Amino acid sequence: MEATCLVVLLRLCVQILCLPAYLLWYLGIWDPLCKKLFPYCMAVASLIYNKLVYEKKKEMFSNLKDFSSPTGALTLLEIGTGPGTNFQFYPVGCKIICTDVNPNFQKFIDKSLAKNPHLQVERCLVAPAEDLHQVPAASVDVVVSTLVLCSVKSQEQVMKEILRVLRPGGAYFFLEHVAGAPSSWSLFWQQIYDPIWKCLFDGCTMTRETWKNLEKAGFSELKLRHIYAPLILNFIKPHITGYAVK
Ligand SMILES: C[S@@+](CC[C@H](N)C(=O)[O-])C[C@H]1O[C@@H](n2cnc3c(N)ncnc32)[C@H](O)[C@@H]1O
Repeated sequence: MEATCLVVLLRLCVQILCLPAYLLWYLGIWDPLCKKLFPYCMAVASLIYNKLVYEKKKEMFSNLKDFSSPTGALTLLEIGTGPGTNFQFYPVGCKIICTDVNPNFQKFIDKSLAKNPHLQVERCLVAPAEDLHQVPAASVDVVVSTLVLCSVKSQEQVMKEILRVLRPGGAYFFLEHVAGAPSSWSLFWQQIYDPIWKCLFDGCTMTRETWKNLEKAGFSELKLRHIYAPLILNFIKPHITGYAVK
């Protein structure tokens, strides 16, 4: 009870300090501005993030090739591609379909593609992961998301779309930051910063128990690990990583 009151009080203090950002948000100025600026911030932030979690990503993507189609080709769809941070981890000859809801990421995707000539780009779509109707059912071997499920409108709908586009036996690879353990300091600070974090970082929510939606999505196999990513800010360290097979 005391902890809850403290969370509410501290959250209020943070919100008062961030009043100018809130004002822009209520006036409808913040959202379009954020959509334009966020890709620049992510281009820098993802370089730092990738350096810190390089080993985790390398390990996570190490068995991508196990999910190649029987012909040996690997068609991979990435949701919330952002600036194309993950391209360096994809195997040679991999055919990729990039999708993101924010069209302002395209020039960053193009830059990253130029640095990764080992990939073949099939398509870049501006589409929410909740509605990938341009992608035929059972047409991809692998779906990837990193730091995306924290921002989507409906994780349940995203899971349905992932299961629809994956071929039987295909896999969904994920590395996502999630809610801290009950009574942990991470969760305490997440609850305090969550409203302003969401406003500043284009809808990103820190307190989602994403693993619960993965567990009930209906994959035939789920390999999921809770990890503490080696990041600087303690409250975004709780992550889940692994893959789920259709
Ligand atoms: C924190 S960034 C991560 C970008 C990239 N995946 C990475 O790891 O560097 C979140 C990305 O998800 C995208 N996004 C947010 N909501 C989305 C949705 N509903 N469908 C698809 N992408 C979405 C954002 O535009 C942004 O590119």
